[in-house]
Amino acid sequence: MEKKELRQRLLAERQAMSLAERTPLDRAILQRLTALPEVQAAKTILLYLDFRGEVESDGMIEACLAAGKTVCAPVTIKAERKMIPVLVSSLQELRAGAYGIREPIYHPEAVVPVTEIDLVVLPGVGFDRSGGRLGYGGGYYDRFLPTLRPDVTKIAVAYELQVVDQIPIEPHDTMLDLLVTENGVWRRV
Ligand SMILES: Nc1ncnc2c1ncn2[C@@H]1O[C@H](COP(=O)(O)OP(=O)(O)OP(=O)(O)O)[C@@H](O)[C@H]1O
Ligand SMILES: [Mg+2]
Repeated sequence: MEKKELRQRLLAERQAMSLAERTPLDRAILQRLTALPEVQAAKTILLYLDFRGEVESDGMIEACLAAGKTVCAPVTIKAERKMIPVLVSSLQELRAGAYGIREPIYHPEAVVPVTEIDLVVLPGVGFDRSGGRLGYGGGYYDRFLPTLRPDVTKIAVAYELQVVDQIPIEPHDTMLDLLVTENGVWRRV
């Protein structure tokens, strides 16, 4: 149960950070993310709504909306263990969904077809610099990511304290293309 122990340790370290410590890191990550050519070129982006001390994402959503991009975020369907990308037109129109995670309000017309998504920004519990990711253990992103177009850029955003030498990887784990932390950007080679 290597993943489980690593998850507990990294979550505890992340939760221990104060708001004063994380605010400048959030700002640095936002700047690095929005400066990426992949992000600038993307028309439709799947972002997330931060929860449990993840890198703050409201600023990313605001920046993408201000740049005229189409923004969507996951709506979690717990019974089916799946996520559906739903349009986010404003941070004011969110509700608390499964696991208490904020989500856009689901309407069939607000569902963004997965084929339209150009880029995904995703959170997680732990990462390595070779594309490895550890989530909360539900397999939600691992099931969702393979449904995207193969050319979609998958970007992890994390605090440096969430980065380890090597995340234990299983066959179902989807590897990511880029990792952005307060210290820099790593591209999977
Ligand atoms: N593509 C898949 N098809 C079926 N089951 C899957 C798939 N991906 C993951 N799972 C299931 O989800 C469980 C949790 O996966 P894992 O421990 O990698 O979660 P995680 O990466 O931490 O979670 P998440 O993807 O939600 O962030 C696995 O034990 C596996 O049974
Ligand atoms: Mg996984």
